[in-house]
Amino acid sequence: MNRRIGVFGLMLAAFLASPNPARAQQGSDSCISCHEMLSGRLGEPVAVFSEGVHAAAGFGCVACHGGDPTVQGPEAMDEAKGYIGRPSPVQVPEVCGRCHSNAGFMRQYNPSLRVDQVAEYVTSVHGQRLLGAGDEAVATCTSCHGAHGIRPASDPRSRVHPLKVAATCESCHSDPAHMEPYGIAIDQGEEYRRSVHWETMSEGGDTSAPTCNDCHGNHGAAPPGVSWVGNVCGQCHIVMTEHFDNSRHSEIFATMGIPGCALCHQNHEITTPSDAMLGLDEGAICRSCHSAEDAGGQAAVSMRGTIDALGGGIDSARAVLERAENSGVEVGAALASLNDATSSLIKARAAVHAFDPELVAGEAETGMEITGEALNRGGEALDELRFRRIGLAVSVVVIGGLIVGLVLKIREIEQPDWTGSRES
Ligand code: HEC
Ligand code: HEC
Ligand code: HEC
Ligand code: HEC
Ligand code: HEC
Ligand code: HEC
Ligand code: HEC
Ligand code: HEC
Ligand code: HEC
Repeated sequence: MNRRIGVFGLMLAAFLASPNPARAQQGSDSCISCHEMLSGRLGEPVAVFSEGVHAAAGFGCVACHGGDPTVQGPEAMDEAKGYIGRPSPVQVPEVCGRCHSNAGFMRQYNPSLRVDQVAEYVTSVHGQRLLGAGDEAVATCTSCHGAHGIRPASDPRSRVHPLKVAATCESCHSDPAHMEPYGIAIDQGEEYRRSVHWETMSEGGDTSAPTCNDCHGNHGAAPPGVSWVGNVCGQCHIVMTEHFDNSRHSEIFATMGIPGCALCHQNHEITTPSDAMLGLDEGAICRSCHSAEDAGGQAAVSMRGTIDALGGGIDSARAVLERAENSGVEVGAALASLNDATSSLIKARAAVHAFDPELVAGEAETGMEITGEALNRGGEALDELRFRRIGLAVSVVVIGGLIVGLVLKIREIEQPDWTGSRES
């Protein structure tokens, strides 16, 4: 560990020696009874703290600030009793780590919690700049968690709840003045908010989509280096990543310093891809490096051809079958089989990431067969429909004839009587 931490370790030694929950669980807590009568920055922590996870676990103010809560009066804040006042950003990791890095202590409260947050934090860009260079503009534990109303990430009110994380990071990373000295972009949040990931999360309520910390780590926050961009995306997009790892691109992009998935999909503004990205037409991504003269370009055109053929086939089969169904011909089974063709299309699109046209054709094959059969069934259904229409026309003629005949017959029966009465 770094020297700066060592110095603070000594300074805080008396207070930090070992976590002592008993000390924090005093019945009447002078820190609280005095501070709740104060206003502004001195009073606010009391109410906020009472709603957080630490108060619920029975800790008091001294858990982080030290001092003696059994002493009434300002002497409670005696440095001799370990009082440290307002922890500076550099002190914070050590204050939190006193409990959170102590596996034996934490186990008594919540055995499922990890105890590596500080260890990870010191490896992050944030931790290295703060503890190595004393840079207080980076994030320390309380920048992301707050100091007084700390709650677990599963609580929607927590600053690190999946729906809140982006705003927490943006409070610095989207602030031009804050980031100005570093000369790094401030558009990550803005771009992320336009992504399919944020859309899935914010509109679909699906928190399995990633937010900032899923790609950057909770505590070991670092920009994913070129070598592990694939690993980041691969946590969730397993099939694409496997294909990509086996492709020619995987190896060649790494040597060229190109960030794998992010080259074609971006890192923050990831949107729903379309077939138009593939091939050599205007708007296709492949044409920035390939042309019709090279193997990559030819492969791009071939894969696009396969996908268009299957996609187009499925669309026309569905159109024909739906027409038949609307007219009352039973084609349910054939329509259902198109779901399997669609699965095949999805697999073919994923297989694009192997950049091998034969693999894409292989995945599309089942779909092509199903689509062929469905189209045949659609054709038969339309024939059946034509046949039924002819049948209907014939029966209309026959029934019409019968009715005409019947009417004539009725007249014939009624005629004599009627004429007879006129004559009389
Ligand atoms: C009798 C009232 C009283 C008691 C008891 C008391 N405080 Fe304070 N505290 C104050 C006042 C007034 C200030 C602001 C003046 C100062 O910094 O000394 C303050 C300031 C603080 C600050 C902010 C220091 C800074 O540098 O901004 C912290 C943190 C704090 N108290 C924690 C505690 C803790 C922990 C306890 C219990 C061990 C405690 N206080 C007990 C009155 C009290
Ligand atoms: C989990 C640790 C923790 C606990 C428990 C805690 N604090 Fe703090 N408190 C901090 C940290 C860290 C800061 C420094 C500000 C920051 O990093 O956001 C702070 C800052 C303060 C300040 C200065 C606020 C300011 O804006 O200058 C006061 C006053 C204070 N705390 C009082 C209290 C009181 C009273 C309690 C108990 C009701 C309490 N704290 C409990 C961690 C804690
Ligand atoms: C006195 C020991 C102690 C100190 C100091 C302390 N914590 Fe905790 N903290 C705990 C314990 C114990 C729990 C678990 C409570 C439970 O699950 O019932 C906890 C829970 C948490 C949680 C919620 C974890 C979860 O997902 O359930 C977070 C976040 C957290 N602490 C952050 C911090 C931060 C940040 C600091 C420093 C500002 C800090 N803690 C200081 C003991 C401490
Ligand atoms: C850059 C923001 C950031 C910083 C800095 C940060 N955390 Fe966290 N922390 C998070 C996020 C986000 C989560 C929630 C992870 C999740 O969704 O499960 C988290 C989760 C936690 C948890 C819950 C258990 C776990 O590991 O998931 C604890 C405890 C915790 N942090 C403590 C700390 C401590 C102690 C520090 C300082 C050494 C710290 N954090 C610094 C963002 C941060
Ligand atoms: C308190 C302000 C603050 C907060 C909150 C914060 N950061 Fe940072 N972050 C910084 C500063 C300042 C740097 C240093 C920039 C540098 O060195 O280039 C940095 C650096 C980074 C870097 C390294 C950038 C690079 O290329 O060097 C990443 C990645 C990062 N932060 C991600 C996050 C994420 C993800 C979150 C939220 C979970 C977050 N940060 C929250 C201030 C913050
Ligand atoms: C889907 C994964 C993913 C998500 C979500 C994500 N990032 Fe990134 N981020 C990356 C990748 C990959 C890079 C590195 C790109 C490279 O090496 O070219 C990066 C780079 C960065 C950098 C370094 C500077 C830069 O722009 O290149 C910062 C800072 C950063 N992200 C912050 C954030 C913040 C803040 C959020 C949330 C609002 C976020 N990221 C969400 C994957 C992600
Ligand atoms: C924590 C899991 C997770 C991580 C990490 C992740 N994604 Fe996603 N991604 C999702 C989810 C969930 C969706 C939305 C559901 C879907 O369409 O698959 C999605 C959607 C997508 C889509 C749009 C798919 C579509 O059909 O609309 C692309 C492209 C994508 N992600 C690429 C990436 C890339 C590139 C990375 C890495 C930089 C990445 N993702 C990281 C979970 C993740
Ligand atoms: C050389 C460009 C390129 C790279 C690199 C790349 N992709 Fe793709 N990706 C594409 C193209 C093109 C499509 C659209 C295929 C289609 O719809 O025909 C696509 C589609 C996707 C989809 C949506 C699939 C669907 O069902 O519509 C996801 C998710 C995805 N890629 C994730 C990734 C991940 C994860 C990586 C890294 C392991 C990655 N991509 C690397 C070009 C690329
Ligand atoms: C950033 C530039 C770049 C982009 C964009 C790119 N490629 Fe490549 N691709 C390369 C390089 C470089 C090679 C290696 C050429 C070699 O081996 O001579 C390669 C090789 C290939 C190969 C293997 C060719 C062979 O020799 O067997 C295929 C197939 C391929 N690319 C398809 C694609 C497709 C499809 C896309 C669009 C989705 C695409 N590439 C986008 C740079 C790129």
